[in-house]
Amino acid sequence: MKDFHQLLLNRRSYRKYKDQELKAEDVKLILEAALVSPSSKSTMGWEFIVVEEKDDLEKLSLCKEHGARPIAGCKLAVVVAADTTKSDVWVEDASIASIIMQLQAADLGLGSCWIQVRERFTQDGVSSEEYVREMFGIPEQFAILSVITFGYKDEERKPYDPDKTKWEKVHIGKW
Ligand SMILES: Cc1cc2nc3c(=O)[nH]c(=O)nc-3n(C[C@H](O)[C@H](O)[C@H](O)COP(=O)(O)O)c2cc1C
Repeated sequence: MKDFHQLLLNRRSYRKYKDQELKAEDVKLILEAALVSPSSKSTMGWEFIVVEEKDDLEKLSLCKEHGARPIAGCKLAVVVAADTTKSDVWVEDASIASIIMQLQAADLGLGSCWIQVRERFTQDGVSSEEYVREMFGIPEQFAILSVITFGYKDEERKPYDPDKTKWEKVHIGKW
């Protein structure tokens, strides 16, 4: 599993993407990764909205005041929603699905970025969740955790350096 560790060291958030369409088989693999991600009691309460149209991506990028611009320039955005009536730990389930998609994208050589939606607000003070819910007609019982952007990388990011790992955060046997 040395390669997997290498993938983890190389995984970074990419916010700039080339104007190049993704391969359909890569999009399928990313979504398949989400659909096989673990969930509490295997409730699989998540739902995913695939967004690829330029106008929709532009509009979605206004879902919050700061940090959502990568959506406007990406080739694929996946909205991660979850049924709050199915699980009390939907945040964890939806978070795992989000990062699993990012790791799958990294393995395919694609860039991705997590855009936080839950607990965020638009420039006008509207809840980002409400903005996204309204845009896609998402039913009330579904909360929206994140939007994950994907595309061919158009920026350089350095991998993590194992020599700079913050081992002081690991406590052996006691705090
Ligand atoms: C819960 C969560 C929310 C995030 N929200 C945003 C966001 O809204 N916009 C953004 O550009 N990056 C966002 N990120 C990406 C982080 O900024 C990024 O992971 C962090 O700076 C570490 O950089 P790295 O991913 O390259 O290791 C988020 C990441 C996580 C895990």
